[in-house]
Amino acid sequence: MIKVGIIGVGRIGVVHAKALSKLGNVEIYAIADPVVADIETYAQSMQIPNAYKDYKKIIDDKNIDAVLICTPSDTHYAISIEAIASGKHVFCEKPVDLEISRVKDIQKRVDAENGLVYMVGFNRRFDKEFMALKNSIEVGKIGKVELVQITSRDPSPPPVSYVKQSGGLFSDMMIHDLDMAYYLVNQEAKSIFAVGNALVDPKIKTEGQDIDTAIVTIEFESGAMCVITNSRRAAYGYDQRAEVHGSQGCIMNGNHFSNHSLLMVKEGLISEKPLDFFIERYMDAYVLEISKFVEAIETKGKPPVSVIDALRSLVLAKAAAISLKEGRKILISEFMSDK
Ligand SMILES: NC(=O)c1ccc[n+]([C@@H]2O[C@H](COP(=O)([O-])OP(=O)(O)OC[C@H]3O[C@@H](n4cnc5c(N)ncnc54)[C@H](O)[C@@H]3O)[C@@H](O)[C@H]2O)c1
Repeated sequence: MIKVGIIGVGRIGVVHAKALSKLGNVEIYAIADPVVADIETYAQSMQIPNAYKDYKKIIDDKNIDAVLICTPSDTHYAISIEAIASGKHVFCEKPVDLEISRVKDIQKRVDAENGLVYMVGFNRRFDKEFMALKNSIEVGKIGKVELVQITSRDPSPPPVSYVKQSGGLFSDMMIHDLDMAYYLVNQEAKSIFAVGNALVDPKIKTEGQDIDTAIVTIEFESGAMCVITNSRRAAYGYDQRAEVHGSQGCIMNGNHFSNHSLLMVKEGLISEKPLDFFIERYMDAYVLEISKFVEAIETKGKPPVSVIDALRSLVLAKAAAISLKEGRKILISEFMSDK
């Protein structure tokens, strides 16, 4: 039985606790969060034996094999270092850090600890819709990949206070889509070009110094191209779709709905809206994701999403931000050499 500690039990920490509780071979041994008001009541409701305000109690506990880092993004690096040093396997929510040098540092530390599993939370890779696209590509059903289109729209924008500490749309929101582009195309990116604006909430620009609507185009080494469109608002709900066009055909996926009924009346054909947001849409993916982390620990295998994966998408996110600022295409090699 693998014993796990969850550090940070806000939105995503609770999602992972729920996902872990569905697995048979793992015990949530402790949780830690300095702010969650009634952490002990929550722990009791989940039959978790230990609840702390200070996460260091989890790091220092020799009974615990693995930690989940579900705290705000700017704490991931420091907690990762402590967890790795204490010999614990780590599942870290995206992003590992917002600085490329720090992500590389984590990679070095993981490499130095032979057999330590460090997995990063790119949950969409474990969603059956996206897995279906990946599978069709891998078995050659659509031939050589030429064009990828990824659409990702949130139902409504987060508060400006969140935007200010998020690292910006490319690193906070589009990072999932940048990872998906790599996952589907499966080769290195050559360049990226970005446009963006604050069309949803002007305060996101004036106070948050960010954008809420963006398009990027990515060129890959083979010449394959990808377009990603993001919006922090969709009047009809959480919109998550992709299409991959290849030399032998095309495959696309779609949104999830609470039911698939179609009302057909004189006003038109009416269906349910897509499921509300990421927790509803990706709950099954979170369960599969965390089961793969546990499996990697049990089998002493490699995690399916590594620090290198996190680094690749972060480089694209950083390059996109520079492209937006400077109004030019950014070569990824040029960007890397600058750093
Ligand atoms: N993969 C995904 O789908 C996904 C979805 C949402 C968030 N995230 C990522 O997860 C992270 C957390 O996001 P969230 O939306 O759950 O935020 P949140 O604010 O809802 O929760 C974060 C929790 O961490 C706690 N915390 C802060 N400092 C702590 C510390 N030192 N020790 C222990 N707990 C601490 C806070 O009190 C809070 O309860 C972010 O990095 C975010 O990018 C990923």
